[in-house]
Amino acid sequence: MSNQLEKVRELIELRAKARLGGGEKAIEKQHAKGKYTARERIAQLLDEGSFEELDMFVEHRCTNFGQEKKHFLGDGVVTGYGTIEGRLVYVFAQDFTVFGGSLSETMSQKICKVMDMAMKMGAPVIGINDSGGARIQEGINALAGYAEIFQRNIMASGVVPQISGIFGPCAGGAVYSPALTDFILMTEGTSYMFLTGPKVVKTVTGEDVTQEELGGASVHASKSGVTHFTAATEEEGLGTIRRLLSFLPQNNLEEAPLINCTDPIDRLEDSLNEIIPDSPNKPYDMYEVIGAIVDNGEFLEVQQDYAKNIIIGFARFNGQSVGVVANQPKYLAGVLDSNASRKGARFVRFCDAFNIPLVTLVDVPGFLPGTGQEYNGVILHGAKLLYAYGEATVPKVTVTLRKSYGGSHIVMSCKQLRGDMNYAWPTSEIAVMGGAGAVEVLYAREAKEAPDPAAYMAEKEAEYTKLFANPYNAAKYGYIDDVIEPRNTRFRIIRALQQLQTKKVINPAKKHGNIPL
Ligand code: HXC
Repeated sequence: MSNQLEKVRELIELRAKARLGGGEKAIEKQHAKGKYTARERIAQLLDEGSFEELDMFVEHRCTNFGQEKKHFLGDGVVTGYGTIEGRLVYVFAQDFTVFGGSLSETMSQKICKVMDMAMKMGAPVIGINDSGGARIQEGINALAGYAEIFQRNIMASGVVPQISGIFGPCAGGAVYSPALTDFILMTEGTSYMFLTGPKVVKTVTGEDVTQEELGGASVHASKSGVTHFTAATEEEGLGTIRRLLSFLPQNNLEEAPLINCTDPIDRLEDSLNEIIPDSPNKPYDMYEVIGAIVDNGEFLEVQQDYAKNIIIGFARFNGQSVGVVANQPKYLAGVLDSNASRKGARFVRFCDAFNIPLVTLVDVPGFLPGTGQEYNGVILHGAKLLYAYGEATVPKVTVTLRKSYGGSHIVMSCKQLRGDMNYAWPTSEIAVMGGAGAVEVLYAREAKEAPDPAAYMAEKEAEYTKLFANPYNAAKYGYIDDVIEPRNTRFRIIRALQQLQTKKVINPAKKHGNIPL
């Protein structure tokens, strides 16, 4: 064998060794937990054969605690680039088979390298987390490594989409990299995120709590709102990440890809002409409306189980990606509260940062009253949503279906918050408040003096409702651009979005605004 062939053989052997990560035993252990290895995950995430791995020969440089005797090629993370539906993405996947995927100085350097490349090329970054946290043997160097990643997460925010998959442990300060990214997906039963684990919790607060109860996927999906998506299996999770990317542009200077639309744009949806119940207190399901108007009924919901009174997610109109924000009358009557406001605000800001138009469907009775909300800072949280809509310069199309009262009317993308096209169904009630509340304020004293106070109030309420519980008052002032037939909503939104394609609005130059965080 020639010298050169010998060297080529050596390279092939080294690559094979690197691909084994922490070795066959560790891989078996990983599989036994129902988890895939880093390379298996990347292979499923990316288009077949598209992965180009980088830094396969990087090794840690630590000499503490006998580490100089333990070396693995690639050192605990697999990094590189590839494509999803033919579009460039950068990836890193922590390899639990090597030192439990714990973060070393060199591992951080590998991750930072792909993040820097993603910024240079303007492409999304996807990180798959499965790690025991800071590599304990490396001490402060591991911490510095995290900080280097966090800084890059911050600089990339609003420039390229960043997506985190949590496919195993993610604890301590390590949670802050995913938290700084745009979307988090957690696998059910095999992943967890928390700042301090059950043992520390027990010591400090006395609480007995399992890892799952403290930071499992369902907890973060329904209670904390930390995760945007959950998946029953890793395959499903990787599929969701691929699907999510199909709605997003590569970076903040591009538009989301336009998909060939197979759903007739002028499809009339007769059911919408009868969907609003006669009683204002009876709910209907906003998912039915969304499903009826978007292309092929396809909707990728974000934070499905958190603050269900507001619905957010991605859909398409005539092949164009949009962010949908909708009140859900079926849950807490669609009221806005602290959590719903924060959920909506972050989504609106994401869409605005990445040039994704906003379609807002309004049926909101107001903000949730009470000490629970006020002590929780609903003033600030509501202001976040208000700020997000008012700041957004992407095309904004709003359709009011039924209630739109008071402050919540303003917050939900009203005309004066630079709503571009504001439509209302004939069933809309756009007013300062509902009839019963209004007459209570206006006529309580007179009612006491009336021979039949209840009849007097009912008469006044009917008067108020006739005058204000309709869209025409708002339309009279041009606050509503048109009152539309519900069954025609899809077509009207598509027309509006087409018209708005060349919209250009630039906010005043500033370092950054001061959103009420
Ligand atoms: C070095 C680590 C490690 C770590 C795991 N390993 N975590 N090595 N540093 N942080 C090693 C283990 O020693 C073991 O090595 C291998 O990875 C697999 O770990 P196991 O414990 O066998 O796996 P499992 O039973 O699945 O338990 C996983 C685990 C546990 C729950 C994550 O390993 C664990 O509790 N690790 C420590 C977590 C931790 O406290 N990290 C530091 C947090 S502080 P061998 O050689 O036996 O296979 C932190 C600060 C970040 O992260 C701050 C950022 C700003």
